[in-house]
Amino acid sequence: EKEGYDHFMIKEINEQATSVKNTLTQKDNIQKIIDDLDDISRICFVACGTSYHASLTGKYLLESLAGIPTDVILASEFKYSAKTLDENTLVIFISQSGETADSLKALDVANETSKTLGIVNVAGSSITRRAQYVIQTQAGPEIGVAATKTYVSQLTAVYLFAALMAKDDRLLNDLDKVPDFINEVLEDVESIKAMSQRYNYAKDFFYLGRGYSYPTALEGALKLKEISYIHGEGYAAGELKHGPLALIDEGIPVVVVIPPGDSHKKTMSNLEEVKSRGARVLAFGAADDEELAEKAPEVFKINPEVSEIIAPLVYIVPLQLLSYYITIEKGFDPDKPRNLAKCVTVE
Ligand code: M6R
Repeated sequence: EKEGYDHFMIKEINEQATSVKNTLTQKDNIQKIIDDLDDISRICFVACGTSYHASLTGKYLLESLAGIPTDVILASEFKYSAKTLDENTLVIFISQSGETADSLKALDVANETSKTLGIVNVAGSSITRRAQYVIQTQAGPEIGVAATKTYVSQLTAVYLFAALMAKDDRLLNDLDKVPDFINEVLEDVESIKAMSQRYNYAKDFFYLGRGYSYPTALEGALKLKEISYIHGEGYAAGELKHGPLALIDEGIPVVVVIPPGDSHKKTMSNLEEVKSRGARVLAFGAADDEELAEKAPEVFKINPEVSEIIAPLVYIVPLQLLSYYITIEKGFDPDKPRNLAKCVTVE
């Protein structure tokens, strides 16, 4: 079933353009859900792990494009917020498996007061049966424990939802280009393999991103720790000075997610900050970014048409590849990380 690939994870990483394309077919279904939902004054996402990172991206989109106050709550911490829900709150549960125990428990509570929507990959799973509305992500079965193609599918559903809520035709148009942008990244896999050989010595990694790229930094770090067992820490680039800068030392790899857009200038100054303290910067940015080429010793180049707003759908791909190849270098099996299960059915 691996169809010639060494592992399910790399097969699934390579299927991501298709996963996005297939999930874009849900547009009409999502529009129908939106038409049916009236009087929504607040949105609350509830999720765990990678699905939490897709949710966080949803918050940035819904607040900045549609002006809807949006919270993101870890399912295991949900009970403390339950009393703030009301009939005008839409609670969105993002889950690959549709069976995560913490999310299911929160769903039962949310159903008592609010409207609930599941964004779920596994058809017929518990969340699809218990949520009032369902968007089915179209990634197909995911075998690798590390979520990859289901993450970009969740993001695609969230982007469609936010763009339709905000009636943002330009963003809807841009989403159609994402599969090609992902394939361009995948064609450049040799650069990532080479990078992984230079950094597999590391014990700690930092991942920095600002705005839409902050959840990408968190997800990149999660991918690294769960399969390579290297400590990876994702940070909002602006938080650097508030503590973690103390840990930046000679030789520590710092991944900087720096697509073109509003946040570019400030992220660049954070890049310079860590570089001046001896960090080894691995930048992920636009191919035509001359300032970046000059300031960062190592740049993975991405199509300059990928603006910071759609960057989460594309920039995560090289970070998944980096984690995969570092794990291979270290001799671990990326499909079966120690201590982890594909689906967490206990609280
Ligand atoms: O099935 P779910 O999306 O509800 O699962 C949530 C997390 O357990 C999951 O995303 C986990 O973090 C993955 N192993 C990440 O790769």
